[in-house]
Amino acid sequence: MSIEVRQVVRRFTAETAALNDVTFRVEEGELIGFLGPSGSGKTTLLRLIAGLDQPTSGEIRIRGQVVNQVPPQRRGVGVVFQNYALFRHMTVFDNIAFGLRVQKRDKAFIRERVHTLLELVRLSGLESRYPHQLSGGQAQRVALARALAPEPSVLLLDEPFAAIDTKIRRELRKWVRKIHDEIGITSIFVTHDQEEALEIADRVLVMNQGRLEQLGTPEEVYHQPKSLFVANFVGEANHGQGTVERGKLVVGPLMFSVDQADGAKLSVVFRPSDVQLSPVGGERGNSVNAEGEIIHLTYKGTYYTADVRLQGGMQIQASLSPDQTAALGVGSRVGIHVKRVLMFDSEGRALPTENAVAVGAV
Ligand SMILES: Nc1ncnc2c1ncn2[C@@H]1O[C@H](COP(=O)(O)OP(=O)(O)O)[C@@H](O)[C@H]1O
Ligand SMILES: [Mg+2]
Repeated sequence: MSIEVRQVVRRFTAETAALNDVTFRVEEGELIGFLGPSGSGKTTLLRLIAGLDQPTSGEIRIRGQVVNQVPPQRRGVGVVFQNYALFRHMTVFDNIAFGLRVQKRDKAFIRERVHTLLELVRLSGLESRYPHQLSGGQAQRVALARALAPEPSVLLLDEPFAAIDTKIRRELRKWVRKIHDEIGITSIFVTHDQEEALEIADRVLVMNQGRLEQLGTPEEVYHQPKSLFVANFVGEANHGQGTVERGKLVVGPLMFSVDQADGAKLSVVFRPSDVQLSPVGGERGNSVNAEGEIIHLTYKGTYYTADVRLQGGMQIQASLSPDQTAALGVGSRVGIHVKRVLMFDSEGRALPTENAVAVGAV
């Protein structure tokens, strides 16, 4: 079912708005990730959609109908929260059956539906256990089955795996994606973990201080961030500031050619994966923008991150393949070439990316 949020404001106090004029639309069958730092308004927004809270102003529509006055149990939404929130004195079976009993379904129907869901969440055989006899991951799968039992058309998940180990969390998120695809439900997945949002969602909605910064595909928010905030929050980022002088922006020892008036104060962001390092003394084409020294290497599993100190003291990060690290180690002098750079005006709004080219050493 489609969900529309129109000019929604939610104030808890007179001074600040937890949500400030938020407008967007989720299409039927989409999986949207809400991504933002703690306190940015993700849970508030989710609760408004679920009907657990009311907007101060603005409208929420589900399948085109305004639902501001519709109570949660009649909105057709299933919700899973971070803290397992299972009924502790009830078995797995009874937890999952809870919503069906509220709907006054008959016994045979409930039995069959609970068993189907147990299979879906891969917990068959554990129906007689109590919540304290489950691992964190299992408990969250029960919470998911319970939310899905009444066949909601919208599934809302608020940091469902935040308290679970990285490896299991990764498996669980893949598996939520699979369930979402199988049952064709419209879903919202809240997380403060950018990797999780980029990996699971069709589109990512980035929040900052109660405002929607950007709604786009994972590729869009990563490669074409609309704001400095999004560029820094999504993905690894090197950043710096400078002032335009005669068509050039000087950031430490790096110089970028820009199509902006002299005196403009701009910010730049470039990804470690867009920084190329080459040994000094080797070939030195026009593509070297500055020189520096590798001061630290961090192993990241399939690649390394090099901390590089440039002339003048500015530090940046660059990604290195294991092959490259064989030739370049801590203490190596390197040439630096920035392949791609994002630029932002003094208010943090993105300038067109074609605008900037790294042009060589100062
Ligand atoms: N019931 C409430 N009363 C007062 N302030 C609240 C309440 N709920 C949330 N807030 C405030 O609203 C802002 C957004 O909170 P929240 O939506 O929980 O953020 P997130 O889920 O992104 O961490 C925060 O500043 C928080 O302190
Ligand atoms: Mg929250």
